Amino acid sequence: MKQRAAVLISGRGSNMAALVAATRDPAYPVDFVLALSNREQAPGVALAASLGLPTAVVAHRPFAGDRAAHEAAIDTALRAADVQIVCLAGYMRLLTPFLVGRWAGRMLNIHPSLLPAFPGLDTHARALAAGVRLHGCTVHLVTQAMDEGPILAQAAVPVLPGDTEDTLAARVLVQEHILYPLALRLFALGQPGGAPPADAALRNPLAQAGASDKPLPPGAALP
Ligand code: GRF
Repeated sequence: MKQRAAVLISGRGSNMAALVAATRDPAYPVDFVLALSNREQAPGVALAASLGLPTAVVAHRPFAGDRAAHEAAIDTALRAADVQIVCLAGYMRLLTPFLVGRWAGRMLNIHPSLLPAFPGLDTHARALAAGVRLHGCTVHLVTQAMDEGPILAQAAVPVLPGDTEDTLAARVLVQEHILYPLALRLFALGQPGGAPPADAALRNPLAQAGASDKPLPPGAALP
């Protein structure tokens, strides 16, 4: 039997759409039954509706800084939808121990970096500034420490010469849309940490960039 899941969004909802698309496979072990946003105007809310997903908005502003009360309202909506799994997908509110505790071990997040590198915001700009040659995305369980929960799956991309924040973000996003459905499937099947299928998280990023996989001569400039 399929597990029921909700997706929490604050923005455009492209990862949500990728997750929902995956569920069209009858063999996929999860069904999304709710898209919940803290922002009524989030483009992802309209996108969810266009995908036929029931939507709920629990705006944070009326709660005037009372995070616990806001999260209690979210929790009520999640329980009313009878979900077993919660996927954060661009949900931009920090969570308190209340909601994290209620959904411990059942709440996933996607983060646009290879954690534990670059937790928090502006990950692509920070990756460029740090000069890393590999960047990527991570799906992890949500714990109280931000972006620090157990890692379920990762995908890497190369950082290429001339990359801007936007080009790098776009390259990572392609992988996010592959990785999140994969990680959720493994999680729902009870295989977190299991070997990812060959078609997903273990792509050779250099081959993907068209670079040779032969060892470079000593001192050679990296592609
Ligand atoms: C993604 O980059 C995700 O990794 C991060 O927020 C962004 C959300 O994008 N947590 P979208 O709303 O899924 O398009």
